[in-house]
Amino acid sequence: MLKQHGNLFDPPYTPQRIQTEVDQTRRYRTAVVAEHNGRIVGFARYGHTPYRIEQLRQFGKAALGQERHGYVFSILRNPHQQYNGLGEKLVRKSLVLMRSMKYPNGKPLSEVVMTCHEANKGTLGIGAKLGFTALGRVPAQGRLTHTETVFLHLPLRRAIKPRRTKPRRI
Ligand SMILES: CC(C)(COP(=O)(O)OP(=O)(O)OC[C@H]1O[C@@H](n2cnc3c(N)ncnc32)[C@H](O)[C@@H]1OP(=O)(O)O)[C@@H](O)C(=O)NCCC(=O)NCCS
Repeated sequence: MLKQHGNLFDPPYTPQRIQTEVDQTRRYRTAVVAEHNGRIVGFARYGHTPYRIEQLRQFGKAALGQERHGYVFSILRNPHQQYNGLGEKLVRKSLVLMRSMKYPNGKPLSEVVMTCHEANKGTLGIGAKLGFTALGRVPAQGRLTHTETVFLHLPLRRAIKPRRTKPRRI
């Protein structure tokens, strides 16, 4: 799926980046996938990382001494499965699973970050529906179509908003 649709990311996923996704998923087993007729049609990979902790600190959201934060690293939905809420479902499930994860120091994950470029309506929509706050924008590095990355943040202990609509079949 990543080979077929990895071009939808900005920048498009290279074979090396795809391999990293696969390796990280195998190593940590922290991803959710959606299947339809035996084929993977979507996935989200999540976990915790020190990446962007400095930016989180600059937004005043990292606790003293905090070195890591939860992160939804990547989300991908088969583009032929339009507007079915699949991306939202994948992230929602990831958030549920992240609630039982711990940082290496044994403390439970306290928050989740998602980032995307300013024109990524899908990720922004998912963030809005799941209660993420847009903390602000940070300079985008290595992106092709934009210069800023939107920084979305959700305290993890806060209840995840219930769905307003019934899950739809994919
Ligand atoms: C980002 C992505 C995963 C979103 O998945 P999705 O299944 O379209 O998301 P959802 O259907 O759950 O959409 C959630 C909300 O986002 C908004 N949204 C999604 N796509 C939209 C679009 N094209 N235009 C406007 N709003 C959109 C809507 O508000 C939607 O809720 P609604 O359908 O109830 O109105 C998908 O577009 C994708 O795979 N993109 C390519 C890869 C990528 O950019 N990943 C994110 C960076 S890691």
